Amino acid sequence: MAHEQVWQRDVDLPVIMDKGMTVDKKSFYVTTPIYYVNDVPHIGHSYTTIAADTLARYKRMRGYDVFFLTGTDEHGQKIEKAAQTNNEKPIELADRMVETFKGLWKVLDISNDDFIRTTEDRHVKQIENVFEKMYENGDIYLGEYEGWYCIPCESFWTSSQLSSGNCPECGRSVEKIKEENYFFRLSKYQDLLLEYFEKHPDFIKPESRRNELHRRIVGGIDDISVSRATVEWGVRVPMNKKHTIYVWVDALFNYITALGYYEDSEKLKRYWPANVHLIGKEILWFHGVVWPAMLMSLGIEVPCQIYAHGWWTLEGQKISKSLGNAIDPVKITETYGIDTYRYFLLREVPFGLDGNFSYDALVNRINCDLGNDLGNLLHRTLTMVEKYSDGIVPEAESLSMEGKELVDGSEKLNEEVELAMSDLQFSKALEAIWDYIGLVNKYVEISKPWVLAKESSMKNKLNEVLYNLVESIRIISLFILPIMPNIAAEIQKQLGLSSDGKSINNRIIWGGTRPGTKVCKGQPVFPRVEYSKAS
Ligand code: MSP
Repeated sequence: MAHEQVWQRDVDLPVIMDKGMTVDKKSFYVTTPIYYVNDVPHIGHSYTTIAADTLARYKRMRGYDVFFLTGTDEHGQKIEKAAQTNNEKPIELADRMVETFKGLWKVLDISNDDFIRTTEDRHVKQIENVFEKMYENGDIYLGEYEGWYCIPCESFWTSSQLSSGNCPECGRSVEKIKEENYFFRLSKYQDLLLEYFEKHPDFIKPESRRNELHRRIVGGIDDISVSRATVEWGVRVPMNKKHTIYVWVDALFNYITALGYYEDSEKLKRYWPANVHLIGKEILWFHGVVWPAMLMSLGIEVPCQIYAHGWWTLEGQKISKSLGNAIDPVKITETYGIDTYRYFLLREVPFGLDGNFSYDALVNRINCDLGNDLGNLLHRTLTMVEKYSDGIVPEAESLSMEGKELVDGSEKLNEEVELAMSDLQFSKALEAIWDYIGLVNKYVEISKPWVLAKESSMKNKLNEVLYNLVESIRIISLFILPIMPNIAAEIQKQLGLSSDGKSINNRIIWGGTRPGTKVCKGQPVFPRVEYSKAS
């Protein structure tokens, strides 16, 4: 089945030059988890997708051939149950919820190249295929499972793993099951997994989570159930139609079925192995142990990296439907803006750690970092270009010591951002950008263009300062683009760089602004916001 292209690529994506940096793999494949369709998305889901989108946009700017995948996980007991409660068929629930997810990604300017649904033919066919292959190679066998099952997590637990009788992952109640199941010989892969971990120290990030998982594998791993005899809503086990394939097995393979495994091997060759699977920390076991073991069983390469980020709480509380605090991200963006929301999530918490979402912190970031530091710099600069140079960017005939600091600073920034982004440290990249913004703001204070404007003998100096300011902001706009695509475009427009909507001067190398460019001052890009709870 043909799948729809969910996003129109920007016509003119800026290309930041890689100055002397080596690019060892030109293609870049990044994924998000595929989200369950039993419920509407909240800020936690939007976080992973925004991070993946930022990385995808960044890599495209650096000249990579990017494939960015997201999608929905639609089978299993949890969806079956949610549909029952709603008095509808699982597929009806899924169809509805898919629209909600796609709608949110559109609002948040998510630039995914594909959207996979596990109910699509292109996926189902391949799942049957891989299950059969693993069965044929002896890694799947029939047995009996007796233990506990957590429906919200779609996870099997043994009695000793339970925490006070509840699911050790989400704390909710579990149900006892005893049924005939197919099992996957996970235990067989213990040594291979350990070897893989040793040889690829960056396979799991952050390191603390890698070590935790490593210890778990060293401690011993049991075979796992990979089918359900009592769940109807799923892909049927090809050699025994009474069973459906365990939803986690079904879901994990989305990362390769979306590439056409193994019919469209061209795409698979081009993008597999994935450079990074972005996930939340709670699903690391499946991604870091079960997934690589199954790929090994099939003789398919293992992904380069799995990055497990932390969890958001909301005003200090766990985000959950039962607590009634799972706010729709669309509501937040309606009140506070889209790019500002994207900025906040990636700036507030180092990627990998847990964080707390609070409206106070959001308002503070918007008014201070964005409004005061960047918005004012742009506004002041454009006001001065209008006032002292008729709105035309003048030519700089010389480069003073302070001006050179801005040039050098932009080169250093280029390296710092690349370093931070290659480790998915979005907040560090933003810190580096804001340090540079600080430097430019200091430059305004030191060079005092308003004083220079009073002396006609200072005209050359004034021109240099105005040019340097516009040029620094142009460079800043390129670096913030992956995180704040709309704001970056607006800044570029106000700098007069995209008046025809196409000719953005997109080089990171100093000197990209053409003297003679007419600036186009508009409304402040970050209007002040007041605290008001989005509900
Ligand atoms: N369907 C599985 C994933 C299968 S991937 C092969 C699943 N889906 S989910 O809908 O529950 O989404 C889980 C993901 O949403 C987490 O891994 C994380 O990326 C994101 N988040 C959900 N709540 C979150 C927070 N409170 N904070 C941060 N992210 C969390 O698990």
